[in-house]
Amino acid sequence: MKLDVVLGLQWGDEGKGKIVDVLAAHYPVVARFQGGPNAGHSIRFGDTAFVLHSVPSGVFREGSINIIGNGVVLDPSIFRTECEAIGALGIPVRERVRIARRTHLIVPTHKLLDAADEAALGKAKIGSTLKGIGPAYSDKTGRNGLRVGDLLEPDFREKYETLKRKHLARLGQYDFPYPFDLEEAERQWLRDAEYLKTFDIIDGEYETNALLDAGKAILAEGAQGSMLDVDFGSYPFVTSSSTACAGACTGLGVAPSRIGRVYGVFKAYCTRVGSGPFPTELGDATGEMLRQRGHEFGATTGRPRRTGWLDLPALKYAVMISGVTDLIMMKADVLDGFDTVKVACGYRVDGVRTDRVPYDVYAEVEPVYKEFKGWKADLGSCRSEAELPDEFKAYIAYIEQETGIPVRILSLGPDRAQTIIR
Ligand code: IMO
Ligand code: MG
Repeated sequence: MKLDVVLGLQWGDEGKGKIVDVLAAHYPVVARFQGGPNAGHSIRFGDTAFVLHSVPSGVFREGSINIIGNGVVLDPSIFRTECEAIGALGIPVRERVRIARRTHLIVPTHKLLDAADEAALGKAKIGSTLKGIGPAYSDKTGRNGLRVGDLLEPDFREKYETLKRKHLARLGQYDFPYPFDLEEAERQWLRDAEYLKTFDIIDGEYETNALLDAGKAILAEGAQGSMLDVDFGSYPFVTSSSTACAGACTGLGVAPSRIGRVYGVFKAYCTRVGSGPFPTELGDATGEMLRQRGHEFGATTGRPRRTGWLDLPALKYAVMISGVTDLIMMKADVLDGFDTVKVACGYRVDGVRTDRVPYDVYAEVEPVYKEFKGWKADLGSCRSEAELPDEFKAYIAYIEQETGIPVRILSLGPDRAQTIIR
């Protein structure tokens, strides 16, 4: 059996939660392989909308196994709040969620460091979600980090105090007056770490491979998006993990040869939350219309998302880096009723035409647009390919031709029923 991967191809918030929830019907196992509670994956459960931060989006499916992989950074306090809320819906969360022993922990001082780093950057700030993601990954690669497996060791408290001392020493170098009760947060965190220990803590790499050997299909659920990848995104305006397909191998302990389909999720337009380049951004009434019609406000931070037209050079780049086999287009219904719909098919960088994503995040990038006639139809009520307006079909065909990848799934509204599989 192969491991299939679902990834965001833009700057996050592509609608991965809904798609994983739809695809999860075919996968008994869903695994998160990177990122942390900076993710906000919105899915519907009955009449309630639910935002998942750390727990894989398969958790609402009966009998599912949901693995938090070693590539994730986990905050026990956020994890507990999330699991208790899921449990309150009558879901047997402890039966469905397992955590890899090698998963790194976010401690309270990671959040303080995140805030202090951002404050020190001033105008150049990343626009971080301030969940401690960057500092936790820095400790991982800096070989200072604490892992879930350490919670089970007798000297855990000592290790924790050592790490905290290092953090406080670093914080002392900042002129950063934080309004934060560290002692209280720490008491809570230590209680929540005990709660985490009541879950199945597993050798993730062995279990994942054994599940595949036993013929269980696994869906690896990416968080954030390709353009926020620590290597290939718009560095330094990125998150701190590998959001591309390769991250699924290192984040779960699965060989590249075991990867099957790679589902690339993108919106029919673009959004970005936080700082950094966004060539097709619209600061005008059309941008506002996208924000309002698309409910483009952060699921984790509530911040209004920046909005703009679809960016094909960036999409093709993401398809190339991850070897996407199937495209999944989200939220084209948000564009219903627009007179024209634009797509950036290339850029002019410092006056020179290119279709490559520039290295320089401060370069003047002017998109070159292709215009499409809008569809004056209600896509959300379409239930089959035959019902789709011709103008929309032309839009899809252009994207398929440019990327060379078929658009296999169209999501035309938040409901599971508003999904067309082609
Ligand atoms: P999902 O999984 C959108 C952005 C932040 C910031 C940058 C770094 O819901 O798509 P960090 O918290 O990692 O220090 O922030 O990355 N960012 C996201 N943007 N969706 C997300 O997750 C994001 N996770 C982080 O806004 O610009
Ligand atoms: Mg989100």
